[in-house]
Amino acid sequence: MSDTRANKQFRSQEWFDNPNNPGITALYLERYQNQEFTREELQGGKPIIGIAQTGSDIAPCNKIHVFLMDRIKAGIREAGGIPMEFPVHPIQETGKRPTAALDRNLQYLSLVEVLHGYPIDGVVLTTGCDKTTPAMLMGAATVDLPAIALNGGPMLDGWWKGKRAGSGLIVWESRRLLAMGEIDYDEFISRVCSAAPSLGHCNTMGTASTMNALAEALGMTLTGNSAIPAPFRERMAMAYETGKRIVSMVYEDLKPSDILTREAFENAIVVNTAIGGSTNAPPHLQAVARHIGVELDVKDWQTLGFDVPLMVNMQPAGEYLGESFFRAGGVPAVMAELMRAGRIHEGVMTATGHSMGQNLAGLESVDRDVITPYAEPLRTNAGFKVLSGNLFDSALMKTSVISDDFRKRFLSEPGNEGVFEARAVVFEGPEDYHDRINDTELGIDERTVLFIRGVGCVGYPGSAEVVNMQPPDAIIRQGINHLPTVGDGRQSGTSESPSILNASPESVVGGGLAYLRTGDMVRLDLNASKMDALVDEAEWQARIDAWEAPEIKSQTPWQEIYRTHVGQLADGGCLELATAYQKIAKDLPRD
Ligand code: FES
Ligand code: MG
Repeated sequence: MSDTRANKQFRSQEWFDNPNNPGITALYLERYQNQEFTREELQGGKPIIGIAQTGSDIAPCNKIHVFLMDRIKAGIREAGGIPMEFPVHPIQETGKRPTAALDRNLQYLSLVEVLHGYPIDGVVLTTGCDKTTPAMLMGAATVDLPAIALNGGPMLDGWWKGKRAGSGLIVWESRRLLAMGEIDYDEFISRVCSAAPSLGHCNTMGTASTMNALAEALGMTLTGNSAIPAPFRERMAMAYETGKRIVSMVYEDLKPSDILTREAFENAIVVNTAIGGSTNAPPHLQAVARHIGVELDVKDWQTLGFDVPLMVNMQPAGEYLGESFFRAGGVPAVMAELMRAGRIHEGVMTATGHSMGQNLAGLESVDRDVITPYAEPLRTNAGFKVLSGNLFDSALMKTSVISDDFRKRFLSEPGNEGVFEARAVVFEGPEDYHDRINDTELGIDERTVLFIRGVGCVGYPGSAEVVNMQPPDAIIRQGINHLPTVGDGRQSGTSESPSILNASPESVVGGGLAYLRTGDMVRLDLNASKMDALVDEAEWQARIDAWEAPEIKSQTPWQEIYRTHVGQLADGGCLELATAYQKIAKDLPRD
């Protein structure tokens, strides 16, 4: 990449140095000079680097960025840029009702609007909590200004009574202990809070660590960025280096569209399986791909990702947490192992200005218990199955978290491995589930499949992480922790439940789940990637003909706007109209 600094004309000069329109130029200068910037700086031909701040008191997973800001800015200054921090709409996964997923597209929109409408030549995207990473990448993709991502890093490892307590996992485990009467409310709270010992995002390979790993796998970060725990000194150094690097990227005119190619997305899919990544990755990656104009299909996750081995021993698919993953080498070590096995496109360009292959040269796992060699993985064929049938056009199943117990109960009938038939019990959303799950009239036993619907993008709205439904207390007391669950919502990336989820199209828009009834038999065939309701065709058609779309009430204006324009999870859950806007930095806004 060539970094020719002489006579570089920046977009921001249209604001700050436009003799053809002195009135407006003076107004821009006047107001930006009343803070730390001088006229000389603003007209000095230096790039203005925006820093999209996603952290705040209300977004604690990303709050570390408030403290990293000095280092990011120092790096930008050091390299000859002018830093300008700006806020975007906040997202906190665990704080936002009805669900943070509703706000991913709002944070995306807020970033697009700032990058397009202000004097910004390049941007540092601060990422962390689940939705913030895709939202930032989606926005950078739409605008296509030079952009680099910096995550805050995972929290330190949590511990409870001498055992690692991982974000999310500790909740699912404690919920079961509470249901069995083994702990009380106070111990439940103490256990769960032990998983969050410092600033940072979730310390498991949940959606946050997954999406940040994938940002790195896509080439949108510096090498080694994603796994550094938030409080470590290396995190501060990475903030500084990222600030320095974005200035060069502006001079090189290295844009998201140069990095986010089809091959980069293929790398990310492969990495997702190797790390035991979240089932939220497919919709998020799909959304980034659509905003940059790359063709990706939900089926690619099975075609390209299923036969990849699980190589990272990190909860929920494994044992360790973020600190160990970092010490073992993090994402570069995983990718280097994959690259030697021929599973990585080495030639793709990255934010470093070098190819992925160059970034990874000579790297390897330094703790084979945490990051295994490709040939000696924790599990083979560890990717997602992409299922279809009369209940949905597509739904995902994360096979790396199928426990031996679950496999034995459902998928191990001699001569018929990977196939089961069972009775369905259907819930209309999480409230209905909580009201009725312990109702003995439902006849839930160890062979029942639990369905939840009305929890997709339009239905919930935003698509809720509720598909990993816990079995009735009585079943848990028999020692059964998981029944098969199916739904048109999502589940937390920290869930260790092999749910069938992200079913698209969702029920409220007339997807097949809408026509299922409690008592119907369903059949899962993992070998053929099929799931169907075993209802005869005439009866099924009669149900379709009789179906009326439920009336849905929005509680806020954004909910209504979102519902009107959002697509399905298989298509990334994008605001469909937004996907038509691409590479918009080229078109300067009117002044
Ligand atoms: Fe924010 Fe997990 S809840 S990172
Ligand atoms: Mg989540």
